[in-house]
Amino acid sequence: MTKIVESMDMTVAPPEKEPERQYYFIRKLQLWMEDKKRELGRPLTACVTTFGCQMNARDSEKILGILQMIGYEETDQEEADLVLYNTCTVRENANLKVYGHLGQLKRYKKKNPEMLTMLCGCMMQEQTVVDKIKTSYRNVDIIFGTHNIFKFAELLAMRVFDTSAKKRMIVDVWKDTDAIVEELPIERKYSFKSGVNIMFGCNNFCSYCIVPYVRGRERSREPEEIIREIRELVADGVVEIMLLGQNVNSYGKNLEHPVTFAQLLKQVDEIEGLQRIRFMTSHPKDLSDELIDVMAHSQKVCRQLHLPLQSGSSRLLKIMNRHYTKESYLELVAKIKKAMPDIALTTDIIVGFPGETEQDFKDTMDVIEKVQYDSAFTFIYSKRTGTPAAAMEDQVPEEVVKERFDRLLKRVQEISAEKTQAGGGVVEDVLVEDVNKQETGYVTGRTARNYLVHFPGDASLIGTIVPVRLCESKGFYYYGKQCEQ
Ligand code: 5AD
Ligand code: SF4
Repeated sequence: MTKIVESMDMTVAPPEKEPERQYYFIRKLQLWMEDKKRELGRPLTACVTTFGCQMNARDSEKILGILQMIGYEETDQEEADLVLYNTCTVRENANLKVYGHLGQLKRYKKKNPEMLTMLCGCMMQEQTVVDKIKTSYRNVDIIFGTHNIFKFAELLAMRVFDTSAKKRMIVDVWKDTDAIVEELPIERKYSFKSGVNIMFGCNNFCSYCIVPYVRGRERSREPEEIIREIRELVADGVVEIMLLGQNVNSYGKNLEHPVTFAQLLKQVDEIEGLQRIRFMTSHPKDLSDELIDVMAHSQKVCRQLHLPLQSGSSRLLKIMNRHYTKESYLELVAKIKKAMPDIALTTDIIVGFPGETEQDFKDTMDVIEKVQYDSAFTFIYSKRTGTPAAAMEDQVPEEVVKERFDRLLKRVQEISAEKTQAGGGVVEDVLVEDVNKQETGYVTGRTARNYLVHFPGDASLIGTIVPVRLCESKGFYYYGKQCEQ
């Protein structure tokens, strides 16, 4: 890709076709960066901060890939020459965090008026947010959304080469798109593991959730493109991949030649050199027997499944538009456990959905007891403007929600700790991810079931999979000891 970018003809107008059009702007910015470097005696720096889910993390890697190709040096200092926030809006507190950072930026920008500030991601897909930024945070230079990340270089170039005295804020947010632009640079956070988008958007419209409004309709990538990307990642040293989609179980339905997620998983499983496969997120309503079968027969698909419950009350599940009941969810779990008795199950749960009664909440607690999740993400319901649930009367009083939330969290943590305790003593393969920042002489990694393990070792182990005895359980993680290979 570097060669193609460097050979772009800059004497002509930018190409119309993607991704060539972006290669053109990357090249234009590379040449500008060379001048800047000479002028300042250093490269410009860029700080990218990511809020939210794995999808956003992957989007940030795409932005960093482009920034790096242009010649920016990555930094985690928010006083950089370019600062970008990739935002999340799934719950209100995610928005509040971003406003906090924007307030800070005003001060940095006073010190360095050349500083470029950019906002992208789910929060920018909301008109009210963009309006608020336009009036209260005039210091932001560029706003774009979730559908045109591939245009990052073009938007940056628009700003950098704008010679007008009073530069205006660039706002380019699309409502939806069919476009999937392949073949742009990506800068991975980890050398040995990577997320891989298999689809974008969501068609489910769960009544509390803003994602379908900010990420648009479901679009699947062609299986050939996914396989090609994974092969390249493996050739580049990646041993673990996480297939990403808002609902991976409905993958492939809108392709010209439909492919099921289970079929895709089977193809991924056959890639030589790849050692671990994970995926996220599985909607319980669409999880097929075919998928359970592929998982159960694979050596590479990790024995871990994230299966969001949201609520254990069939009554609330209906109002949430989830298309399963407490009973059918439990049946599904039983089927999965029968096929894979050692599977680690995780989930998401919302407390305080409008109209939640004590009985509804007890149903949730009952499912927790029955499933015995290895871990669970618990959320307090957050009202998102524009979703059907936001208009529902009967919002649950804050004290009631808080009390239920604490009860749930306590039980979830107890079960997690019991599970960790029960799983101790055995030897499991651990993919070493990093040196342990808190404890010198230790490294940290994950088992296939996604449990965290700390054990004595050094940086040379990072990216390797080694057998480790899980000696001591500490609530949600283990202390271990590496075994002879
Ligand atoms: N309030 C609280 N939690 C929510 N989630 C999605 N929307 C909301 C909301 N409005 C949770 C769901 C989902 C996870 C990613 O975030 O549990 O699975
Ligand atoms: Fe939101 Fe439901 Fe789609 Fe998940 S499946 S992103 S909870 S609408």
